[in-house]
Amino acid sequence: MGAENPNPALASALQETMNIVFVGHVDHGKSTVIGRMLADTGRLPEGKLEQVQALCERNGESFEYAYLIDALKDERAQSITIDSARVFFQSDQRHYIIIDSPGHIEFIKNMVTGASRAEAAVLVIDAKEGVRENSRRHGYLLWMLGIRHIIVAINKMDMVDYREDVFEAVRTEYESYMDQIGLQPQRYIPVSAVEGENVARKSDRMSWYSGGTILEALDSLEKEKPPDDLPFRMPVQDIYKFSRMGDERRIVAGTVVSGQVHVGDELIFLPSGKRSVLKSLETFHAPARSEARAGEAIGFTLDEQIYIQRGQVVARADEPPPAIAKRVRVSLFWLGRQPLVMNTPYVMKIGTARVEARVERIHRIIDASDYSTRTAEQVIGHNDVAECTLLLKHPIAFDLCNTISETSRFVLVDGYEIWGGGIVLEPVPDEESGLLDETIFREQKWIKSNVSMIQRAEKYNQRPALIIVTGKKGAGRKRLASAVERKLFDEGKMVYYLGIGSVLYGVNADLKRAKPGNNWHEHLRRMAQIAHLFLDAGLFLLLTAVELQEEDLRVFRSIIDPTLIETIWIGDIRTTDLAVDLQVSSNEDVDKAVERIKQMLQDHGSIFSPNFEMP
Ligand code: GTP
Ligand code: MG
Repeated sequence: MGAENPNPALASALQETMNIVFVGHVDHGKSTVIGRMLADTGRLPEGKLEQVQALCERNGESFEYAYLIDALKDERAQSITIDSARVFFQSDQRHYIIIDSPGHIEFIKNMVTGASRAEAAVLVIDAKEGVRENSRRHGYLLWMLGIRHIIVAINKMDMVDYREDVFEAVRTEYESYMDQIGLQPQRYIPVSAVEGENVARKSDRMSWYSGGTILEALDSLEKEKPPDDLPFRMPVQDIYKFSRMGDERRIVAGTVVSGQVHVGDELIFLPSGKRSVLKSLETFHAPARSEARAGEAIGFTLDEQIYIQRGQVVARADEPPPAIAKRVRVSLFWLGRQPLVMNTPYVMKIGTARVEARVERIHRIIDASDYSTRTAEQVIGHNDVAECTLLLKHPIAFDLCNTISETSRFVLVDGYEIWGGGIVLEPVPDEESGLLDETIFREQKWIKSNVSMIQRAEKYNQRPALIIVTGKKGAGRKRLASAVERKLFDEGKMVYYLGIGSVLYGVNADLKRAKPGNNWHEHLRRMAQIAHLFLDAGLFLLLTAVELQEEDLRVFRSIIDPTLIETIWIGDIRTTDLAVDLQVSSNEDVDKAVERIKQMLQDHGSIFSPNFEMP
């Protein structure tokens, strides 16, 4: 194409593909506009239009441009291809992938998961019916999904005699609605899809309108560049280990969603706060390179081996970091058939991270039909949009929706089913926010050992873990912890049992003296910091405490890598809200219980099974 085309800009634009989604209230004419566009750009196969028209006539129904889409589904037209959800079509300027979203739910699900991305939207409003519920709801969702290019087609102008005042009334109403959201469509175009006015052909029936057609509007949209001028972010997708044949590299892989990174940059992994320097960018069958930018899938090695997990966000130490919190205020939409119920656990997926999330407060439910709000609700119903506070099981790293949208969007899932999605508006400060800052600062100031955590793991043949045994007073916590310590020790593991009393009268003696029982949070903080030292030394640490609650564990999860924490409840009845990894019955044989705990450590990758690969 390039060689024949004398205009290089046009040639490159021709190779460009843009994803456009058509949204709007039912029957307002989305499919008709698309069908008309195909027909009027001369891209239809010879005789196709006549064929469909004839077919309609034979069946005694009136012809619809929307039928063209169906009629083309089964065949490959010259420059149009159609599959179940998309129309591939080409203008003089570039290629388009058009998504007609009759059942908008599927489309929204795909959008939030990143399975499909629309760069711009055409929102169709029926001039006669005016702004309806889905005109508003879809506008809101476009904002939430980060689509900033919106063209509003005010359709069926033929039904209102092409009157300017009708057009202006609809436009003013929609503009004032979108104003509340804080998003303004680029253009409003009066259209008659059935008559072909202002779709691909400029109308001469509306002399009062001086703007262009829908097609011109689409062609003039500028393709968004990957955001490489923003701070660097890469959600960790995977860690590839080459521990065979002398190759000790660990490659951290993921897609750069924003910014740029170079060999030699100091990187920070969040929320753990661990730091390391980028040593090499790995390439496969390609020349070595020294930098990568937004939009690229990359793999890199570090100059020091640290524990990294899928789900962490990599940032550059010299740039503004993402936020970290376990309480976040979000705006979300709910697609589940069953309503979203407060305090029920759902799984939140954000970037590559997965975390258990509960709605702690519903601030308001936004009625998409008139943008009025309801407060004091306890559930979020099907298709509702709501602002609420989520409490997460452990802290996550994220950005705010008005900074880097890729790392601020999330979905709520149940198994493989997506129930909802949204964007993070802001972190909500709480008791643990200070601890998170402390952890990040601790990692920054940490005096690094010459022996890496991974070398320790290899030597000791174990990955460190904090094993917390809790339950009611007298349930046998200490006995169980001691038995686990003995068993692991006898099997050559590096293990230590630390009872709360051991800390209370030593490290925490000052607290004990000051106000007995009144500084539980500080007790926990110190316990967690001590535990962190043991884990950094590569050990298994057993810790016992009476009736720990989820709230107590949150202190630990802010200070210690949550994936290294195991919780065991001893006793038949759980008296707190703690989510445990294992429960041991009060009359269970201790040896049996110890075996089960050992198995759990093996299953979770802390004790390496014979053919287990190093983390
Ligand atoms: P759903 O996919 O069901 O949400 O509808 P849609 O938005 O795709 O609407 P569609 O294109 O199927 O059009 C709905 C009806 O409106 C059809 O009968 C069209 O013929 C009619 N229609 C669409 N555009 C125009 C127009 O510009 N003028 C008139 N008079 N009718 C139109
Ligand atoms: Mg349709």
